Amino acid sequence: MATERIVSAQPRDTREEQFNLSLRPETLDAYIGQARLVEKLRIALEAARQRKEPLEHVLLHGPPGLGKTTLANIIATELGTHLSLTSGPALTKPSDLVGTLTRLQPRDVLFIDEIHRLSPVIEEYLYPAIEDFRIDVTVDSGMHARSITLPLQPFTLIGATTRAGLITSAMRSRFGIAHNLEYYQPGELLEILRRNARLLGLEEGGQTSDLERALSLLADRSRGTPRIANRLLRRVRDYAQVRHGGTVNPEVADAALCLEGIDDQGLDELDRRYLRVIAEVYRGGPVGLEAIAATLGEDSGTLEDVVEPFLLQRGMLARTRRGRQLTPHSAKLIGFGDLAERLSGLEDSGAAETGLFDADPDANEHGRSSK
Ligand code: ADE
Repeated sequence: MATERIVSAQPRDTREEQFNLSLRPETLDAYIGQARLVEKLRIALEAARQRKEPLEHVLLHGPPGLGKTTLANIIATELGTHLSLTSGPALTKPSDLVGTLTRLQPRDVLFIDEIHRLSPVIEEYLYPAIEDFRIDVTVDSGMHARSITLPLQPFTLIGATTRAGLITSAMRSRFGIAHNLEYYQPGELLEILRRNARLLGLEEGGQTSDLERALSLLADRSRGTPRIANRLLRRVRDYAQVRHGGTVNPEVADAALCLEGIDDQGLDELDRRYLRVIAEVYRGGPVGLEAIAATLGEDSGTLEDVVEPFLLQRGMLARTRRGRQLTPHSAKLIGFGDLAERLSGLEDSGAAETGLFDADPDANEHGRSSK
């Protein structure tokens, strides 16, 4: 049972996709945040342009909603070429790739989302395409079947994944540039929201400083994720339009987010249920992810990709050798003061081995839970 969440970083519907598309920056200059990656891309793009070569293959990993597809679009625009979009699960057999690959023009960009979900057969098939710009295709059938090699135009592959750990090392080694996208700082989200509020014509109505404070509140509650920030902006705009004659101020923004079940930390109902289950059912943990998922009736993949990264990053969750554990901070936030004290005591005595991915009992060789 996957719950529909307003803070989910997955795009929700076509209208929302269009809304995001219309606000999407088209050049690196208009792109806010991810400064190190932007700098690396500027240099690589300039070098490729000077040498009249395709850009090196790029692997982007990190939580959903941070702008991987946006960056792929920007890269194609900056190169003055086209972008072809596909995804790991959409490619089930080599013939699914032949048309896409043979249609690519010189220096075009091929974007494969969820690249960790490519089947081993497709992966093998891609290697000569990305290394030597050629593919083998089988023509004729039965006893006349034979394989011919087709040359491809030099192109750039951009692979995107939320699960860097699930990419084979053979695949990873074929990317010249690999970068982990990080959560945005509230200041960066505020800048994105200002830009998008302007594009949506939101200045009109209330006072500018009211709008600014409302956007600041949204930035603080967007879990470091531009896609969520834009979604919340849309909800607030609707609420302001229907209930407040279009005026956006912090009170209106707060009321709109309350209606959506989002608290002052940016946590939604699923986040709070997740934390509460660990507190109430498992006495603060440690507890395995599968047990939490079963108790909540949620998919463990959703919890691992969408709920946990932000809680981990904000110090509301620890992954220990024996499973997930609340931190004193999160126990307090959800109103479990006694538990917070007990967890603090454990921390002080060094009994809680809070730790990183490789301390996780469910972790595979890449440090991600195997499911
Ligand atoms: N809209 C969504 N993400 C953005 C970003 N990183 N910069 C500017 N606008 C955005």
